[in-house]
Amino acid sequence: MDVVPTDPSADNEPQPAVGSRRAFLAGAGAAAVAGLATACSGSDVAQVAGAETAPTETANGELASLQPTASLTPVSFFGDHQGGVLLAPAPAGLVASFDVITADRAALVGAMEALSTEVERLMSNQAIEPVDEFLPPADSGVVDELTGTTGVSVTLAVGSSLFDDRFGLSDQRPRELVPMPRFFNDRLVRDELSGGDLSVTITAPDQQTAVFALHQIARVTGRQLRLRWVQEGYNQLLPERPGQVARTRNLLGFRDGTSNLDPADVDVMREFVWVQPGDDEPEWAVGGTYQAARIIRMLIEFWATAALVRQEQIFGRHRDTGAPLGQQAEGDQPTFVSNPNDDAIPRRAHMRLANPRTPGTGRILRRGFSYLNGADRDGTLDQGLLFLCYQRALSTGFLEVQTRLDGEPLEDYVKPIGGGIFFVLPGPAQGGWLGESLFA
Ligand code: HEM
Repeated sequence: MDVVPTDPSADNEPQPAVGSRRAFLAGAGAAAVAGLATACSGSDVAQVAGAETAPTETANGELASLQPTASLTPVSFFGDHQGGVLLAPAPAGLVASFDVITADRAALVGAMEALSTEVERLMSNQAIEPVDEFLPPADSGVVDELTGTTGVSVTLAVGSSLFDDRFGLSDQRPRELVPMPRFFNDRLVRDELSGGDLSVTITAPDQQTAVFALHQIARVTGRQLRLRWVQEGYNQLLPERPGQVARTRNLLGFRDGTSNLDPADVDVMREFVWVQPGDDEPEWAVGGTYQAARIIRMLIEFWATAALVRQEQIFGRHRDTGAPLGQQAEGDQPTFVSNPNDDAIPRRAHMRLANPRTPGTGRILRRGFSYLNGADRDGTLDQGLLFLCYQRALSTGFLEVQTRLDGEPLEDYVKPIGGGIFFVLPGPAQGGWLGESLFA
């Protein structure tokens, strides 16, 4: 069974509002999840992915078809860190970037508070109070009351532009927070799909719920924030099989997520993901993490003309099994680890460049979604990867890895078109709001 952690400090699991039918159903699912977690894990593990139970008979006799699967796993809103960062790959999600359109610091603070209230409500699946029928409804109604927003996570991050001279934050900028540099393969990157003052990363059981969550956030912040760009995405979660490591395949056909940091390992998360006290960062940033987001178009039709052996050399892994070249199982170590002169995996293969496994190599926590944005006029599919990664420092994380990857053979088949670098705010204290320590 695949177990997914929450940080032990984030132990204030939000409870659904008492008395609502939707909240009751969510509570039943969460209780089942918690029970399974207790049964199969140590104290650090609070969430279970891939668990299934029989349908639940509810108090009013309805058969709830809600299953406590990975996609329905609740995640805490309050805690030292924003819990969404550690979640296993989700079936659906999006990244949305906003520009702040008010020049007033107090108005921006008001927007952050309103956003936090809404996000807490979404993440704990509290029912929306009905309004007078002669007023516009309080939500769009696109999410059915049986499922509500169970399993939604929202992660809020800030871009370097928020720390200009508009809001008196210029001396509070995380030290490494900069606009996304232009890399070797970035000539198709478009400004209108890049950057932004704030970003939200939403994960959800399905696309409709993810977009609903975005709509709710935009609804309460519409006077202060304006959407700059949105990229939706999805994952097909692979059924679990013995020896399988990665939960997803990307649209080039390869298993993705095989060699990744383990979010269940609290020490590893401290070392590589969360900003720590004593880091050369503003005090408010402790508990946060840097996020790099890249919208990377894949030239799928061109890739399909490359021989399988070539495709496998480009990544350094076998396509079907995910094993390192020359090995049998996905979890096997590549041979260059024990013998640096072994070239079974080409030296410019993606996996070898990304992680040469030399002492001191920086590591990142990778997440992502596949996307389809329609088709071009020439009839080619506009598909790709919404790449996300999290790290305690950009210089030893994304920037270091991307610099090593610059000029890699994979670049013939993939072209970044947008994204940005953001700093994921620390989690809010119980009863607090996202950004409270920044604006203190
Ligand atoms: C469309 C673009 C990309 C595709 C299709 C892709 C695909 C893959 C695949 C198939 C693997 C091997 C399986 C695994 O360990 O997950 C991998 C590994 C990895 N990728 Fe990417 N990747 C892309 C972009 C990036 C970017 C932009 C970065 C970071 C700057 C990155 C960093 C890594 C790292 C660190 C690993 C693990 C290497 C290891 O430890 O063996 N990838 N990627």
